[in-house]
Amino acid sequence: MHENPPPPPRRRRPRYRGTHPRRFDEKYKELAPAEHPEILEQVRARGQTPAGQHRPVLVEEVLAALNPRPGERGVDATLGWGGHAELLLARLRPGGLLLGLDADPEQLPKTEARLRALGFGPAELRAERTNFARLPAALAEAGWTGGADFVFADLGVSSMQLDDPARGFGFKADGPLDMRMNPRRGLSAAAWLARASAADVERALRENSDEPDAALLGRALAAGASAPATTGALADAVRAALGPRRGAEEAERAVRRAFQALRIEVNDEFGTLELFLRALPDCLRPGGRAAILSFHSGEDRRVKKAFQAGQRAGLYAAVAPEPERAAPAERRDNPRAAPAKLRWAVRAST
Ligand SMILES: C[S@@+](CC[C@H](N)C(=O)[O-])C[C@H]1O[C@@H](n2cnc3c(N)ncnc32)[C@H](O)[C@@H]1O
Repeated sequence: MHENPPPPPRRRRPRYRGTHPRRFDEKYKELAPAEHPEILEQVRARGQTPAGQHRPVLVEEVLAALNPRPGERGVDATLGWGGHAELLLARLRPGGLLLGLDADPEQLPKTEARLRALGFGPAELRAERTNFARLPAALAEAGWTGGADFVFADLGVSSMQLDDPARGFGFKADGPLDMRMNPRRGLSAAAWLARASAADVERALRENSDEPDAALLGRALAAGASAPATTGALADAVRAALGPRRGAEEAERAVRRAFQALRIEVNDEFGTLELFLRALPDCLRPGGRAAILSFHSGEDRRVKKAFQAGQRAGLYAAVAPEPERAAPAERRDNPRAAPAKLRWAVRAST
């Protein structure tokens, strides 16, 4: 005899102060867009990105550089919310296949489900949780021995990761200082800071975000057991160390640089980017296209150098002479587009 399963527990509507939800977990309508379709247009009309989503940047420019065609095989190495992927997938129809990679085990299944709900089945989209440094292995596992027709990467973190305080990437709301793209691997930013010496922190700040006050901040942040363990504590420690000397505005810029530097450090972002760039020419078919979006000088410098070195070595037939930037309207509409730089390269035919 089968008993009726108990009814699911009723979810209580989160309470928030004032007239608008401010905290990520209070934005229950944006986080369930299928149940509240009207809310997305309202949020976008305010020039904001709905919670739990990501607005893809430089979309037309990326599509022009990658030129995806029906029947081709392409890679989106940083699937994120799938904003770019959705458009790439449409261009690959009929008969094409997109391999979507992401290091984030929490976000990837949500994005795969979103894209499947839009009608992209397993014959069109294959989603793999992996670091893009493993691109050659991912292609071999997919059986793409001849390489891909195009490879795309949109570096850094997504709005979903940044906005969720539990991931520890941002400082709008307090949360654990984690910052790992894959929270199941490696050291969180808090654990890294607690073990780091002042010289370690100074180096990370200098190398990863060109921090002019790296030495002073290195001494302030590497405090062993009392090193900052939450995003709020890290932001406050930077403000306390720099505010009196440099003023509040410059201290806020230093807070942003400190978050960027720690994120790059705990995810070894430059190491993985260099591995990816080194492997890229061999992962493209003759005539295959690569396009990479970067968001700060440390990333763009590496992409530029790798593409130029590949062209000198005869691996790339052509590379972007200059990076492409977002038009003023897109920058106004989506502040995340302002620092974005797009570079492309075309694999030589032989
Ligand atoms: C800027 S978002 C991509 C947004 C995406 N283009 C879209 O339109 O939704 C960057 C994504 O890359 C992922 N990522 C960052 N570094 C990675 C790496 N080394 N390997 C794989 N994924 C990575 C992050 O987890 C994040 O989801």
